[in-house]
Amino acid sequence: MKIFLDTANLESIKKYNDMGVLDGITTNPTLLSKEQGSPEEIMRAIVSMVRGDVSLEVIGTESAQIIEEAHHLKKYGQNVVVKIPMIPEGLKALTTLSSEGISTNVTLVFSANQALLAAKAGATYVSPFIGRLDDIGHNGMSIVKSIVSIFRNYQFKTQVLVASIRHPDHVVQAAEIGADVVTLPPDILGKLMRHPLTDKGLEAFLSDWERIGNESPKLRK
Ligand code: E4P
Repeated sequence: MKIFLDTANLESIKKYNDMGVLDGITTNPTLLSKEQGSPEEIMRAIVSMVRGDVSLEVIGTESAQIIEEAHHLKKYGQNVVVKIPMIPEGLKALTTLSSEGISTNVTLVFSANQALLAAKAGATYVSPFIGRLDDIGHNGMSIVKSIVSIFRNYQFKTQVLVASIRHPDHVVQAAEIGADVVTLPPDILGKLMRHPLTDKGLEAFLSDWERIGNESPKLRK
């Protein structure tokens, strides 16, 4: 399962990119609005920092406008994936962009039927927003399960990108279901790495080593 970071924060992207754990980035207008500086420059910087796919969202809601923006965003780099909202005009634009070979991510997906339509129109990724479904009392992960099984039944190449993740356990569930990608806010990715027993265990190993007067092996003559 690929791991994307869901942010437009360059510091966080650099931090996790340097650890080698990032397969890509997803952004959206809200995430960009939280950062200082021109959104255009931030988007260009992200595209050049990361080797994997970077989803950049269009603002247009008419198909012609979406297509024009997609062509513009695509100039930022090879790894740009154009993020399109799951609306009828978005599907229309998606059909054209797919035929042109442009990678796409259909966003704001809240049902298996929306995902099915996006896949039929040739989407590269579909993004079910599980946290926002949970927020209104639905079971977000059950949508992911349906989408994965539908895509398997009909051998769609469209990848299931689980978005709006709120908890590390969502990542385990997505992996068990067989989703292709999870996109995580930086704090959730941080939580995935840590365990209090790892920290406690390491502290004990280091203090026991020090107690018997040893140095780091590489400092030994
Ligand atoms: C995904 O591409 C979206 O940017 C994101 O996951 C939305 O998450 P939110 O519901 O936390 O805003």
